[in-house]
Amino acid sequence: MTLAFSQVAIIGAGAMGRGIAQIAAQAGSQVWLFDTQSGASAKACEAIGQTWDKLQEKGKLSPETVASHKTRLHKAASLQDLCGCDLVVEAIVEKIDIKKAVFADLEKVVAQDAVLVTNTSSLSVTAIAAGMQHPQRFAGYHFFNPVPLMKVVEVIAGLKTDAAACQRLSDYARQMGHTPVQAQDTPGFIVNHAGRGYGTEALRIVGEGIADFATIDRILRDQVGFKLGPFELFDLTALDVSHHVIESIYRQYYDEPRYRPNVITAQRLAGGVVGKKVGEGFYKYVDGVQQVPAEPPVPVVEHIPPVWVSPRAARRSELLQLLKDLGAKIETGQSPSPEALTIVAPLGFDVTTVAVVDRHDPARTVGIDMLVPDSATKRRVIATNPATRADMRDAAHALFARDGKPVSVIRDSGGFVTQRVVATIVNIASDMCQQRVCTPQDLETAVTLGLAYPMGPLAMGNRFGPDSILEVLFNMQTVYGDPRYRPSPWLRRRGAIGLSLMHEEE
Ligand code: NAI
Repeated sequence: MTLAFSQVAIIGAGAMGRGIAQIAAQAGSQVWLFDTQSGASAKACEAIGQTWDKLQEKGKLSPETVASHKTRLHKAASLQDLCGCDLVVEAIVEKIDIKKAVFADLEKVVAQDAVLVTNTSSLSVTAIAAGMQHPQRFAGYHFFNPVPLMKVVEVIAGLKTDAAACQRLSDYARQMGHTPVQAQDTPGFIVNHAGRGYGTEALRIVGEGIADFATIDRILRDQVGFKLGPFELFDLTALDVSHHVIESIYRQYYDEPRYRPNVITAQRLAGGVVGKKVGEGFYKYVDGVQQVPAEPPVPVVEHIPPVWVSPRAARRSELLQLLKDLGAKIETGQSPSPEALTIVAPLGFDVTTVAVVDRHDPARTVGIDMLVPDSATKRRVIATNPATRADMRDAAHALFARDGKPVSVIRDSGGFVTQRVVATIVNIASDMCQQRVCTPQDLETAVTLGLAYPMGPLAMGNRFGPDSILEVLFNMQTVYGDPRYRPSPWLRRRGAIGLSLMHEEE
């Protein structure tokens, strides 16, 4: 297949421009780098050359390949030098007026059929195109940092973009070794929109005093398989980037409660405690190494009372088997004996509500999160209610830790930690499908490649069951009275009918 674009211009030789220039030259295109800052293009060409030299030293590229890549990289002294290019990628400062001015100048220079794209991550493609003479050849081409390693690119059609231009951009993405996904021009496109559930919900849990940062990170890593906990991720991205993304998407969706920002990140940002790059974020860093607070020890308990499991517990037979395996004395009566530890496993409801509604003695009631099958997790999470006695809490902790699996004890919360975060991620993704931001398949691909989640959000919903996720959301809505947990119609229909969330047709 011939190259979709043989002459490519990159405007803005910063972090993103360099990365895009590198992969475009590797694909075989002639690449021109232009930057208004003097010496920036030369510095970028030098840096890309050094990257190739290093790959050669590691044996990943041959000397011939490196030499040929280098011949395809050029510095442009002015916009005029870009007149022969058939693709121009803009990766300059994120300011709409400056971007619009650049495209207005470019349209005077390039051929009428040249394709022009912006790498914006937060501005509307349609808004940048407004005022262009030929908006049909303009699109968003959103890469991720670092470009050569993050192998996904969002191809965004503005209101007037030609489908043929998007097709050509997708073909070119593949020629550069990237996976293209198609997105509608909506706030955050796919990846930054789908990514709202994880950190935002985790911040709310901290804000409610349910658990601390490190505990939430441990739970989500161990129960769901995220590589990084949400607070580790915030520290890596840094709050001077992520807080603005959260705020921008919230505002662009006219204060949609699902995307509501949190005062925690606003305050930390104001205080300069933004993340790893300054040595302190949610964690402290000593010589770049994250300092993780020690996990609370398992209490030493002399006597573990008999246990009684609520008939309404989620995954009840699995929970009973687990308790048996852990050597618990299980009561089988209609109600617990006066000394029994009562175990509930709600979906979405808090332990307090279950204890009150089901008339359990709250002092002896402890909850366990059974959304995720116990055999599929590396951690168990139990929750107390405000009346739980310390001896009952410690007994439950010691019992569930008997086989060595770590146990986190959190305060009472509708939906524990995993249920809340997973349900929020699945709900936002479902709503993106409902809005037709992209196809379910592209959503899964974009999130797995762009956010490195262990699986796409819809696959996550399927794994834990759309009906269980729906139950979590409905019940959380009752506990919190917050429209944030309102289930998306996409999820409601599929959950009700028993369809996979990946099922596209209605
Ligand atoms: P950067 O600050 O590293 O580089 C921007 C470059 O553009 C600078 O070298 C600057 O001198 C140059 N520049 C500014 N105005 C110019 C103009 N009028 N004409 C030519 N050159 C000009 O910025 P970065 O991080 O590379 O971001 C660039 C774009 O990519 C922004 O729109 C940003 O939102 C987007 N983006 C950034 C990501 C990131 O993680 N850094 C991820 C995805 C998109």
